[in-house]
Amino acid sequence: MPVRVLGISGSPHRHGNTETLLDAFLEGGALAGGAVEKIILKDLDYSPCRGCNACHKEGECIVKDDAIPLLEQVLSADCLAVASPIYSMGITAELKGLIDRAQYIWARKFILKSLYFTDKEIHRHKGVFISTAGLSWDNVFDAAFPAITAFFNTMGFEYYDNIIANDMDRYRGIRGHPTALADARAKGKEVVRAIERMSRD
Ligand SMILES: Cc1cc2nc3c(=O)[nH]c(=O)nc-3n(C[C@H](O)[C@H](O)[C@H](O)COP(=O)(O)O)c2cc1C
Repeated sequence: MPVRVLGISGSPHRHGNTETLLDAFLEGGALAGGAVEKIILKDLDYSPCRGCNACHKEGECIVKDDAIPLLEQVLSADCLAVASPIYSMGITAELKGLIDRAQYIWARKFILKSLYFTDKEIHRHKGVFISTAGLSWDNVFDAAFPAITAFFNTMGFEYYDNIIANDMDRYRGIRGHPTALADARAKGKEVVRAIERMSRD
C-alpha cells in the first residue's frame, strides 16, 4: 500500500505562498510513490469548538460538521502536512479552529483512555509544518509551533520537520525565494521514503 500523505492548507488565499509551498511538498511525496491528497480548509464548513466538554464523557464531538470526517482522515494518514501562513504572529483562524475541534481525540487519549498510540505507531506517522511569513524576523514562526506540536501529539504524529520560508515581502512571494520550493519537494520525497523504510522493518 502506498504511503498516504495528507496535506491540509489553512490559508484562505488560494494558490498563494503557503499553498504553493505545500504543493511542492506534495509533488515530492507523489514522485516518491506516495498517495497524496490536499484539503483546503476554507472550502469546508465547520465551527469552532464550543468548549461544551461533551466529548469528555463519550469521546465524541456533538457538533457534526466537516471537521469530523477530516479529523478521522487525519488519523488514517501516514504523513500529515499542515500548512498555514503567519497571521498576526500565529496560525490562521481556519487551522486553529480545526485543531481545537480535535479535542475529542484528546479526550479519548487523556480522559477516557480509550485511544492509545504505541511509540512505533507515532514514529511511523510523520507530521510536517509548512508556513510562510511576510517579515524577515527569525522568530516570526515561534508562536505557531506550540499549536502544531499539540495537534501532532493529539493525532499521534511525530513532529518530523518544518518547511518554513520568511521574508515573503522582500522575495515578492514564494516563487521569488531561491530555495524554498526545491527544498519542500526534496522533503516530500525524503519523508515518504522514510515512512516506506519503516513500514518494511
Ligand atoms: C491578516 C494577515 C496577517 C498577517 N500577519 C503577519 C505577521 O504577523 N507576520 C508576518 O511575518 N507576516 C504576516 N502576514 C503576511 C503573510 O504571512 C505572508 O504574506 C504569507 O506569505 C501569506 O501566505 P498566503 O499567500 O498563503 O496567504 C499577514 C498577512 C495577513 C493577510
